[in-house]
Parts: sequence; C-alpha cells; structure tokens
Amino acid sequence: MSEADELKGRIVLVTGGGRGIGRAIALAFATRGSYVALTGRTQAPLEAAAREIQGLGGKALPLTCDVTKKPEIEAAKNAIRNEFGPVQILVNNAGMAPAAGFLDMPDSLWEEVLSVNLNGTYYCCKLFLPEMVAAKWGRVINIASIVAKVAYPHTSAYTTSKHAVLGLTRVLALEMARSGVTVNAICPGYVETEMTLNNARLMAQKTGKKLEEALGLFAASSPQKRLIAPEEVAELAVMLASKAADGITGQAINVDGGAVMV
Ligand SMILES: NC(=O)c1ccc[n+]([C@@H]2O[C@H](COP(=O)([O-])OP(=O)(O)OC[C@H]3O[C@@H](n4cnc5c(N)ncnc54)[C@H](OP(=O)(O)O)[C@@H]3O)[C@@H](O)[C@H]2O)c1
Repeated sequence: MSEADELKGRIVLVTGGGRGIGRAIALAFATRGSYVALTGRTQAPLEAAAREIQGLGGKALPLTCDVTKKPEIEAAKNAIRNEFGPVQILVNNAGMAPAAGFLDMPDSLWEEVLSVNLNGTYYCCKLFLPEMVAAKWGRVINIASIVAKVAYPHTSAYTTSKHAVLGLTRVLALEMARSGVTVNAICPGYVETEMTLNNARLMAQKTGKKLEEALGLFAASSPQKRLIAPEEVAELAVMLASKAADGITGQAINVDGGAVMV
C-alpha cells in the first residue's frame, strides 16, 4: 500500500471535531480517505464540518456527544459502528481552557475542566481501546498541551488536567505496547483557534490592552514569534496514525515553535 493510501478507509473519531484543532484534524484525515466521525455538544458546527468533508468527496458522520457523559459516548460508539465499523483511530481533542487564578476559581470550574479534559479522554479510551486491541491495530492520539509538561499561572485546572492526560497516555502506551495499538500525545503551544481568542479577549479585558496586543504577547512567548495553525497540529496527528509511526508510542510531541524543549 502506498503512503498516500494507507489511511484510506480507516475509521477515525475526532472529539470536539466541529471547530478549531479538531476540525482541522477531521479534514486532514478525510482528505486521506479516512471515514471520520466528529463529535461535540453543538450540532451546527459539526454538520458544517461534515458538509465540508462531504463536499470534498469524503465520508463524515457528525454526532452530538458530550465527552463528560459516558452513555452519550456509548451511543456515539454504536452509531459509528453502524455507519462505518469499529473506531481504529481515536483523537481525544475535546477540551476547555478557562483562565482563572487559583484563589478566585470556583470549585465548579475545577470540576468542569477536569471532567472534560481528563474524564472525557478517560471515557473515550475506556470505550474504544477494547475494539482496537481486538483488531490488533489502533491509534490513540491525545491532544494535550505544552502545559502537560510546564506550568503557566492562572491555569491550575487546565494544567493539572493536561499533566494527567500525559500520565494516562504514558501508562496506556505501556499497557498497549504489545497489542498493535500506539498511544501518543500532541502538545501544542498557542494555536489560532477560538480557545486562544477567548483567552486573549480575557487578558485584554483584565489588562486594558487591545486584543491584537494580547494575541501578540501569546505569539511572542514562542521563539518563532507566531501562533501555530490548527493544520500544523493536524498534520502531526496524521503522521502519528501512519505506518511510519508504528514504533512511536508513549510520546508527547510539542508543536509550539520551540517554546518548550522537554
Ligand atoms: N488553542 C490552543 O492554543 C491549544 C493549545 C494547546 C492545546 N489545545 C487543546 O486542543 C484541543 C482543541 O482546542 P481548540 O483550540 O481547538 O479549542 P476550541 O476551538 O475551543 O474547540 C474545543 C472543541 O471541544 C469541544 N468540546 C468542549 N467541551 C466538550 C464536551 N464536554 N464534550 C464534547 N466536546 C466538547 C467543543 O465543541 P462544543 O463546545 O460544541 O462541545 C469544540 O469543538 C483542546 O483539548 C485544547 O486543550 C489547544
């Protein structure tokens, strides 16, 4: 099989696939001929992304599903199996990153962030790994963050959740090592998405800066002095799903313009 064809017909689930990084990942797999299920809580962006994929001649299945609710993931699993078959490539991308100082943060925010970023990843791994192990092939790609490895202030819940996602990635890589399934994390820096825009807006409000100035500060935190495009993260996900990455597991690869070097 040629490199161009190896992802053709692969069944991919991208959580949070309706916008931002998830949408770029869904498109990147679809243009390689993979069958892509996209999930999220909001129907309209999922359907728009699916229409875009279908317009390019690809196969897409938009499904509303909250990753904090295991029964909803079970229902999505059944829908994907009926439409395409068992999931072979799981991209745990759904996430949230509200900024808050630790002393001001309500318990509810901590619980919500851990529930989406960590428990959502856990539930999806728990539900989709068995069919990958049974098939003796699979890929789990967790979209973590550079704050899985380092810390920034006002991100205690987010940073804790992403450190934990990295811990889970490493343990699962070890447990799956002889099963044909690889488990890796991608650690982006600041990416040009709604998430980054929202955090820049918040910073602008708090500091009296302009939105462009706040975005400029995010960009300046990277040695390349720029934000990362969602497509750059997506291309790494495609690479990790390829045959060339058979020997890559338990890794956490930064896409951050050189901001973090561990
Ligand atoms: N942007 C960055 O700079 C950056 C940097 C490092 C890592 N990341 C990580 O990359 C991932 C994607 O981020 P992004 O920048 O693309 O963010 P985004 O534009 O805010 O998109 C987040 C996606 O997650 C979905 N989502 C949120 N809560 C969910 C839930 N409970 N159940 C199901 N889906 C849910 C959203 O859809 P609904 O709201 O419709 O549910 C949306 O599709 C996240 O894990 C984030 O932590 C982002």
